[in-house]
This record gives sequence, structure tokens and C-alpha cells, in this order.
Amino acid sequence: MGFQNDLVGTVRGRKQAELGTPVWLVTGGAGFIGSHFVKLVLRERPEITVLNLDALTYAGNLENLAEIEGHPRYRFVHANICDASAVNGVFEECAISAIVNFAAESHVDRSILDPEEFLRTDILGTHVLLEAARRQQTNRFLQVSTDEVYGHVAHGASREDDPIAPRSPYAASKAGGDLQVLAHGTTYGTSVMITRGSNTYGPNQYPEKLIPLFVTNLIDDEPVPVYGDGLQIRDWLHVEDHARGILHVLEHGELMNVYNIGGGNARTNMEITKRLLDLCGRSKGTHIRHVLDRPGHDRRYALDASKAHSLGWRPRRDFEQGLEETAAWYREHESWWRPIKSGGCADYYRTQYAERGAR
Ligand code: NAD
Ligand code: DAU
Repeated sequence: MGFQNDLVGTVRGRKQAELGTPVWLVTGGAGFIGSHFVKLVLRERPEITVLNLDALTYAGNLENLAEIEGHPRYRFVHANICDASAVNGVFEECAISAIVNFAAESHVDRSILDPEEFLRTDILGTHVLLEAARRQQTNRFLQVSTDEVYGHVAHGASREDDPIAPRSPYAASKAGGDLQVLAHGTTYGTSVMITRGSNTYGPNQYPEKLIPLFVTNLIDDEPVPVYGDGLQIRDWLHVEDHARGILHVLEHGELMNVYNIGGGNARTNMEITKRLLDLCGRSKGTHIRHVLDRPGHDRRYALDASKAHSLGWRPRRDFEQGLEETAAWYREHESWWRPIKSGGCADYYRTQYAERGAR
């Protein structure tokens, strides 16, 4: 706590000295999308100080933020969003003008093995942050959510006012977070908004998710485990586009509104797999293993992002080029992913994929 007080105190000192520099609290900023968001804000919003509060779970990695270490407008707070006294401590020390909540347990397959931590972080943790925002009358609370809350989409594309129908423990925990956020706005007038993003890819994604897992396996000349027939459809969004979409909604969106942030790149998992095989110079015959499907696997997600488009946001990155650059990034950053893959990720991989008959 002394450590926290000290570093937040520094921010308060700076805030007083600089007369009104707004401080944004970003939670989960050491993870995949959060770290890109933190770097984007520091780069493009010179008036903003960022406080990154992260518990550094298996998915949190300060190396994602190495380039901004020591940045004068950035501070890190090592804390859990479920810990009300740690969260309140941050709020008591400085006025937070916006909260962007990325912190979550984020992997569907892990939620199927063990859902409890998902309920704690994604629902209770969200509640703790909302309560702090309510007490301090924070100007904006943006909840980073997911297209998975809509569930399987047989036809067409999900719109923000469609009913939610989550089908995995992860999706249900995120839907619980969304409902808490909207209920808080309705009941207490907390200044809330939600983004629901589609499947995100790019540098620094933990190698348990489809694209980084497959690329790193292929680099190592290992086969890739395709669930079931591999004809499930996801809509892919580059991480920089996702981070920009969240920033755009935070600055231009209306309170109590939900905004879909979709990439517009619908692909089957087999299409992605074949492209990654090409990019890594491996062959379909030797490097694909069809393994047991994910229980309750949603067949298709599709987002209608026209509401975010009408707000002025559009994805900028071309998918084919983005995928090629992502594969290249993993080839060029083995020092980032090898320790993860041979460390904590290895035990998880053995448990998860032994059950599926992949090994
Ligand atoms: P991630 O798993 O890479 O990172 C999560 C971060 O949250 C980590 O730094 C972790 O240490 C931190 N964290 C976890 N529990 C915490 C807790 N209790 N207290 C404080 N910090 C905690 O996740 P990601 O892929 O970057 O996803 C970020 C957010 O975006 C999540 O809310 C996720 O649901 C949502 N989202 C992700 C995607 C995607 O494709 N990755 C798509 C749409 C929405
Ligand atoms: O749709 C948004 C969601 O995208 C986010 O909310 C989640 O945080 C994020 O993890 C992601 O969820 P998915 O379950 O869609 O992502 P994942 O990369 O785990 O899987 C993508 C697809 O690939 C899915 O249909 C399952 C399949 N898959 C995945 C893995 C890890 C495989 O076939 N084999 C695998 O080994």
C-alpha cells in the first residue's frame, strides 16, 4: 500500500502542479489490448496521465509496456480490481476523470476448465470499479466487453440492442459485467458506456489464443490443434484498430450506450489456419490436427458496427497484411513468447490439449 500511495501521490503532485491534467485509470493495461491502448493514449493524448492498475495474472506482462517505462505521464499500480481497499486507495489519492476497464479473465477455454476466477474478476471486479466511480463521480466509465455476449449468430449481424445470450462461462461473466454497468448507470446515474469488440489479433497476444498459438507452434515445426471441423466463423480486428475504437467511443460516445467494434473480416478458423501455414512455410498435410471440439463452441460471431462507424470510427488495418505482419512479429520476437510458452503456458497447454486428444 505504501508503494501505491507513493506512486499515486506522485501523480497527484504532478496533477496539482500542472493544473487539471486529467488522469485516466486503465485497468488490465499490462495485457494484450490494454497495453496497446495505454501506449496509444500516451502517444496521441499529450494532456492525459495514465494510471495502469493491473494484478499481473498469468496474462499480464510488463514487457508489453517496456517502451513507456519511466514515461512522465505514466504510472503502474500493482493491484487487483476485486480489492476494494486498493481500488479506493487509488481514488482517494487522485481525481480520476475516466476509467477504462480492460481487466478480465479473457480465455474461453480456461473458463471451461475453471470458471470461478472469471466470475470474480469479470463481475465482482467490475462492481468494485463501478462503486469507486460512483463515489467519485468519475466523468466516464468505459467497460471493454465482447461480441461473445450475443452468443452464436446464425444469420445477419448482432446489433447493440439485440438480446444477449452468452453460452460459455467466459461470455456469461462478461455479460454479467455488462449488466452491472448498465444497471449502475440506470440506478445511480454513473456515467457508463460499453464497447463490444470482436476477435482481436496482433503483437503481444498471449500464446494461448488461436493466432499466436498457431504461429508459435508452426515456428517450432509443431502441428496446430483445430477444434472440430474448423468451420467456425470469427470476425477479426487488429489490436490497434480495437484500441482506437475504444478511445474514440470514450471521447465521442454517448453515456448509457453500447458500441460494437467489429473488424469486418469474417473468416473460418480453417481459412486462418491455412493462411498461417502458408506464412510459416508449413504444409496442411503434416501440420493440422483436428481435435475434440470446444464444448458449447459458438459457431459464428458477426457484429454490425454501423453505430461506431456513424460516430466516426472505422478500422484502418487491412486483414491480410495485418496477419502477415503479426506472423512476422512472432518470428522476430521469440524472446517475448518463448519464456511464456515454456513457462506457465506449457502446463496449461498439456492439460487443455491432452483432454482434446491433441497430444
Ligand atoms: P488479456 O488476458 O491479454 O489481459 C488481461 C489483463 O487483465 C492482464 O494484464 C491481467 O493481468 C489483467 N487482470 C486480470 N484479472 C485482473 C484483476 N482481477 N485485477 C486487475 N487486473 C487483472 O486480455 P485481452 O485479450 O487484452 O482483453 C482485454 C479485454 O478486452 C477483456 O475485458 C476482454 O474480455 C476484452 N476483449 C478481448 C478480445 C480479444 O479478442 N482478445 C475481444 C473483445 C473483447
Ligand atoms: O470474440 C471476442 C473474443 O475473442 C474475446 O472476447 C476473447 O477474450 C478472446 O479470447 C476471443 O475468444 P475466442 O474463443 O473466439 O478466441 P480463441 O483465439 O480462443 O479462438 C478463436 C477460434 O479458434 C475459436 O473458434 C476456437 C478456435 N480454436 C482456438 C484455439 C485456442 C481452435 O480451433 N484451436 C485452438 O487451439
